Amino acid sequence: MQAVILVGGEGTRLRPLTVTRPKPMMPLVDRPFVAHQLAHLVRHGIHDVVFSCGYRPDALEAFFGDGTGFGVRLQYAVDPSPLGTAGAAANAVPLFDHTDDVLVLNGDILTDLDLVAFQAAHNAAGAQASVALTPVRDPSAYGLVRLREDRSVAEFLEKPTPDQLIPGEPFLINAGTYLLSQEVIAMIPAGRASSIEREIFPKVAAQGGLFGYPSDAYWRDIGTPQSYLDAHKDVLSNNVFTESTVRDAYLGPRTIVEDGARVVDCASVGADCVIAAGAQVIGSVLGARTRIGVNAYIEDCVIGEGVEVGAGARLEGLVVVGDNAQIGETVSIVGPASIDVGEIREVAVADPAGKGHS
Ligand code: GTP
Repeated sequence: MQAVILVGGEGTRLRPLTVTRPKPMMPLVDRPFVAHQLAHLVRHGIHDVVFSCGYRPDALEAFFGDGTGFGVRLQYAVDPSPLGTAGAAANAVPLFDHTDDVLVLNGDILTDLDLVAFQAAHNAAGAQASVALTPVRDPSAYGLVRLREDRSVAEFLEKPTPDQLIPGEPFLINAGTYLLSQEVIAMIPAGRASSIEREIFPKVAAQGGLFGYPSDAYWRDIGTPQSYLDAHKDVLSNNVFTESTVRDAYLGPRTIVEDGARVVDCASVGADCVIAAGAQVIGSVLGARTRIGVNAYIEDCVIGEGVEVGAGARLEGLVVVGDNAQIGETVSIVGPASIDVGEIREVAVADPAGKGHS
């Protein structure tokens, strides 16, 4: 099998962290997120991979190169302009030297889906395209997929409203992992943006050629601050299989935790950080070269690289801090809130709208 990983989105929901890096380069514990996806492919014997890039491709290329260190032959396709998920996949496919079906992965999904079983079901059904499905309690933020008895897709409902849901039906959503035959790739319009899920799949479904593959494999979209934190908790408490063997909390190389400081509850701290005496880092993610001052308190926050948090400061409840920001001594911020890249915050500003943006 050959795989395209879609890594070209802007990652707007993870701003300001994605202002300075593409979402797939966001660390997940001890490596960039997309390195976990490559390892997942390699575990299934897939070694021929194209990164479909758009936004900020350089950081990916600088880290992964030709893929040798990661067990894959890695190539890069760069969208000339944002092509959407379908256009981007079609732009990547000519880089492969054979014309097998192509596995397409969204670059922000953490899953341990059995890709070999997925391909076997795709072949057994004689599908033109297959979409992995995952059950959720609330499908309102996702693409709900309705199946017939033979698992062919009867309907796709993007972000369904409550009145569109049928009581008692299984809420199976598009899990962002697809198998596309060359026939389907040929249906993708050249030279303009198009979406696999909104434009191509409804056409294939209308021809009876699209099949769903429901599974209860682990699945999480890491694209929001909350789900990004939750993904760390799942890796560090071994709820999902990854190559990361660290448990409980992660401290990057050369990071110093001074006397009386605590890094707990599935917190993850990048390289070259200092957590000063008496500081507490609870259930949070801190980027490389960040310094947390004496007795500061950080809970359920996502903090970028090179950030300085002053002594006695308190950040809690999904405060997202961009790279190189500075939070002054004793400043207290209760999220959800975001601090821009390089912003200097000396006094806490009340957030009357409660939206967390200031
Ligand atoms: P948000 O802006 O926060 O929604 O994130 P996003 O930009 O990643 O969008 P979304 O989650 O809908 O995208 C799903 C996957 O497709 C992600 O892995 C994106 O990187 C990728 N993607 C989305 N649009 C494009 C595109 O135009 N080109 C390429 N190459 N990849 C894309």
